[in-house]
Amino acid sequence: MKRIAVLTSGGDAPGMNAAIRAVTRSAIYDKAEVYGVFQGYEGLMDGAFQRLEPRDVGGIIHRGGTILRTARSERFRTDEGLADAVASLERHSIDGLVVIGGDGSFKGAYELHNLGVPVVGVPGTIDNDVAGTDETIGYDTALNTALEAVKKLRDTASSHDRLFIVEVMGREAGFLALNVAVASGAEFVVVPERKFDVGFLCDRLHQSRKAGKQHSLIVVAEGAMSAVELKDRLKDTGGYDARVTVLGYIQRGGSPTSFDTILASRMGAFAVDRLMEGESGIMVGTVCHEMVAAPLSRSWEGRKPLNPELIELVDRLSI
Ligand code: F6P
Repeated sequence: MKRIAVLTSGGDAPGMNAAIRAVTRSAIYDKAEVYGVFQGYEGLMDGAFQRLEPRDVGGIIHRGGTILRTARSERFRTDEGLADAVASLERHSIDGLVVIGGDGSFKGAYELHNLGVPVVGVPGTIDNDVAGTDETIGYDTALNTALEAVKKLRDTASSHDRLFIVEVMGREAGFLALNVAVASGAEFVVVPERKFDVGFLCDRLHQSRKAGKQHSLIVVAEGAMSAVELKDRLKDTGGYDARVTVLGYIQRGGSPTSFDTILASRMGAFAVDRLMEGESGIMVGTVCHEMVAAPLSRSWEGRKPLNPELIELVDRLSI
């Protein structure tokens, strides 16, 4: 393998830069040349390549976002787009591609693999919704960012004896919401993976007030419903007057945690190893802290489950 290209695709996630650095330096360590592709699959189709040397990725390990920038590309889903991407890769004599992104980006990587491009995926998304790996790059940072925000909201909730609803990201998955709920000591969590019953939640809130709780916090995953919808339903069913906070894109920014930085460094280097070994059509991941590889299709086939122990924990600890 002589020339490796690397791109970031989909939503940015803290730790992507650490992964770019790891791909670049480990490939150069192994005597390959490295090219960065700008703006994800858009740049791949347009030939936005730039040679990366070890110093080009210096000082980025702790930076949020992605120096290669990123995009969500509709054009890449078309036959013409795919053909343009393959032609660009051939023009630059690239013999291996690392795609850092989520399962949507991996579907694109899979198409390239089917067209004969050696490709390895590195899971990077704050949603943690990629099957085949216990954690994705960016998830731990987003969790900590959301937790810091919720801790601040608690001050106001307790000072005013209020009911707060906090909406967190996660797309169709409840990983962020559930873990923020456990870590912040929330009263209740609403996630897409568990059936929601507004009557049950009103009863819970009622019991809490009877038990002497003056304020309450509910965490809702955007994939379950919006915080505003939940507020309206609590008003209609139980007469509750909740305050709403939508954390939004703040969850995607910031310097990666040590966990994400180390995870990204390991995954980036391991992805290069896999390419060097002649593997393709796979994603790297960690299972029980060990590096693993799985077919790209694992990422979107079958839903990655939430830990039922954590769901129960929120209920048990909020009495
Ligand atoms: O996948 C990361 C994520 O932040 C999701 O949590 C969210 O639903 C989505 O991206 C938002 O996408 P966009 O950046 O395209 O608005």
